[in-house]
Amino acid sequence: MMNVGSSTIRCTFLVLLTAAVGCGSSSHSQAETNPAGAFVVKPYIQLGDPADPRKIDGLDVVWHAADVDAGWKVEYRAADDQPWRSTDAPRSQRIAVVGQPPHRVYRAGLRDLTPGGVCSYRVIRGDEVVFSSTVKSPKAKEQPHRFVVFGDCGAGTPGEKAVAYQVHSANPDYVMITGDIVYSRGRVSEYRDKFWPVYNADEASRDVGAPLLRSTLFLAAAGNHDIADRDLGKNPDGLAFFFYWDQPRNGPALRDGGPHVPPLRGPEENQKAFRESAGDAYPGAGNFSFDYGNAHWTVLDTNAYVNWTAREMRAWVERDLAAARDADWRFVSFHQPPFNSSKAHFADQLTRVLADVFEAGKVDVVFSGHVHNYQRTYPLRFTLAVDAAGRAVKPGELLGGSFVLDRAFDGRTMTRPQGVIYLVTGAGGATLYDPSQQDDPDSWQEFTCKFVSKIHSLTVADVQGKTLTVRQISADGNELDKFSVTK
Ligand SMILES: [Fe+2]
Repeated sequence: MMNVGSSTIRCTFLVLLTAAVGCGSSSHSQAETNPAGAFVVKPYIQLGDPADPRKIDGLDVVWHAADVDAGWKVEYRAADDQPWRSTDAPRSQRIAVVGQPPHRVYRAGLRDLTPGGVCSYRVIRGDEVVFSSTVKSPKAKEQPHRFVVFGDCGAGTPGEKAVAYQVHSANPDYVMITGDIVYSRGRVSEYRDKFWPVYNADEASRDVGAPLLRSTLFLAAAGNHDIADRDLGKNPDGLAFFFYWDQPRNGPALRDGGPHVPPLRGPEENQKAFRESAGDAYPGAGNFSFDYGNAHWTVLDTNAYVNWTAREMRAWVERDLAAARDADWRFVSFHQPPFNSSKAHFADQLTRVLADVFEAGKVDVVFSGHVHNYQRTYPLRFTLAVDAAGRAVKPGELLGGSFVLDRAFDGRTMTRPQGVIYLVTGAGGATLYDPSQQDDPDSWQEFTCKFVSKIHSLTVADVQGKTLTVRQISADGNELDKFSVTK
């Protein structure tokens, strides 16, 4: 028996707990169980909605459990020699959508973490520790950090699981998903089949996935498969992005029924259940920004119902990037790529309308998905062609315009790009697009300098002061591309 505050905890899981907190420098969590079905979904780490998303000093532990009061609490410590302390009482949101048993999403904040440290936490139900893990605390500005990016992933495929295993091997500080998180309609049921079991598996295995979510911050942009279909008649448990992702709420003010928000469809009962379950995450949670270390991230919903030529939407991005001028790096993440050489989704390059905003805002790299392969552009500047009335000219399928390409940049000896680098990293697990184009450079657009479409892959980026090194790693662990940027 051991005492924790005023309560006494049975040490049913003492062995596992000891292993978890005694792992010293290892930032990988230990295997855990789900005793007596404590969880509907085991704990995972989210950024939450910090008071100042540019000064992160904590993370949220989130888990899903049955719709009953169960005396949950969370304790944590920033180092093994520190006493355990309790978080504020976990908050919960009831998810009660048509076709699913009601469940609760619980959230508890780990605050005042030591930058770059490894924090231990344990989730307690009643008087029993039912889960424990370690988590990587956010890095400070002066500390190097590593992040991983991929998209189009939760398809339940061997490729998804192999990529998850490679993410675990890369041991990043955080992971950014560029949308199409779970197929095919972002449903609660699909998250349970294809997302949680892969990225929060108890053991790391090429065939299963890895225990990532419990120990590593995951962030996500929303893709078309996540939130574009608002028909709650067909998919009453759809739009689960709004239930399960806890991210900053500092995007443009959007309102239900207003511009850039497509109407919900389906029976009124289903719509009401969705709205009550989503709470304040709906409708605006697709756009947000935050700082991690010396990098600023802007995350956008670029599904077609958002008009990114609208003054108020562009102004938000402009202001966000201007406010982040003091960050060493500015990264942008959204789903639909502005510059894509793949025959698939070739007409979906409407996000080009934001290229001038990114250039003016000194964005370094834009990460997208949607197209299920890997592509890198030359550093580029793009001028959108407009008619006399200022409207974009659309010759054929694409938004037309002119390019200035920095072909001198090679990412090895020439590492100071003139322009923005655009990556497509949508090879995270779903069926690959246009494998034959990999060996057919004549089929690439002039702005593309690298195109890998025969294997699933992930982007691994290292930020060390004013040097950024980006590698594309295949699902079998081989390096497919590498470049560095310096300032
Ligand atoms: Fe997509």
